[in-house]
Amino acid sequence: MIKDLLKYTEEEFLELANTLTPQELSILQGELERETGAIDPCNYIEEVFGVRIWSKQKEVVEAVRDNPRTAVRSCHGVGKSFISAKIALEFLMTHPESIVVTTAPTMRQVQEILWKEIRVSHHKASLPGILLKTKLELRDGWVAFGFATKNPNAFQGIHAEYVLCIFDEARGIDPMIWEAAEGILTGSKCRLLSIGNPTDMATNFGDEFRDPKVAKIHIGVFDSPNFTEFGITQEDIEDGSWEGKINKELPYPQLVEPIWVAEKYKKWGKKSAAYQSRVLGEFPTEGTDTLIPLAWVMAAAHRDLSADAVGEPVVLGVDVTEILTAKHEK
Ligand SMILES: Nc1ncnc2c1ncn2[C@@H]1O[C@H](COP(=O)(O)OP(=O)(O)OP(=O)(O)O)[C@@H](O)[C@H]1O
Ligand SMILES: [Mg+2]
Repeated sequence: MIKDLLKYTEEEFLELANTLTPQELSILQGELERETGAIDPCNYIEEVFGVRIWSKQKEVVEAVRDNPRTAVRSCHGVGKSFISAKIALEFLMTHPESIVVTTAPTMRQVQEILWKEIRVSHHKASLPGILLKTKLELRDGWVAFGFATKNPNAFQGIHAEYVLCIFDEARGIDPMIWEAAEGILTGSKCRLLSIGNPTDMATNFGDEFRDPKVAKIHIGVFDSPNFTEFGITQEDIEDGSWEGKINKELPYPQLVEPIWVAEKYKKWGKKSAAYQSRVLGEFPTEGTDTLIPLAWVMAAAHRDLSADAVGEPVVLGVDVTEILTAKHEK
């Protein structure tokens, strides 16, 4: 249909445009620009949502446009969920009859993180469609929805030329869901974006970084404009000189701040798994003195412990001890 439109004369096109609502027209324009190679999804996001996206966020948008699979390992608080939500809406709005499926390890994460960003952006940009808490329907079969379940049947019945799957907090997504996603991402125009904090290489998320066919992006705190704007490096965090370098407001006050990194450096230490993962955005190498791997701690912190999920209450008897090491006694 879009290809036919390219043959229209200007008058024919104007005649058609007069029959459409402004929102329908905007979707059509997006699709036409994409078909003629003129659309830039970064521009679409900045213009439609009235935001500025920073360099690594742009890299993610472009990778999703250009590659069937994109995996992003990233530190804390640099706008992963923000950009995933914008990509979800951009993809849905500019691809007729498309389907966007988003998932995360828990329903709270789906509803209150990614879909909260989607709901706010949808409202601010006055986009069309019927919006529910975790569903946006443009018309029957042209839809975005979010779910968190171990039931891979959630993917059943999804068939479309354009499908985008977004795995937020991807390290904690059940292997069955990864497997089921393969079944719907079959066409050349289908996309998978997995994005999250890297805590465990022995996961499906970790596998993405070993697969040569996957586009890989790394984001560490020192890539963020709140650091690059002032030239703040790891060394500045270590010797405390970062503070003297901040001579104006942070360019993105919502993103992770240098003070947070300085605190975590003191608290966790540069070699700790938590610092490697949450600050540097790298998969941690567990040390020989690691008793409980960081990946287990993170999985426990995000586990759904609601009565629905666990059934009978779990009762634990814990004898917590305190072992004072020579270091602590000093
Ligand atoms: N380009 C941007 N412009 C304005 N605000 C932004 C931008 N990117 C992210 N934000 C805001 O910064 C905050 C952190 O973003 P977000 O929650 O997406 O980060 P994250 O990397 O997913 O964090 P976490 O590690 O906690 O999952 C949010 O309030 C988000 O709305
Ligand atoms: Mg997030």
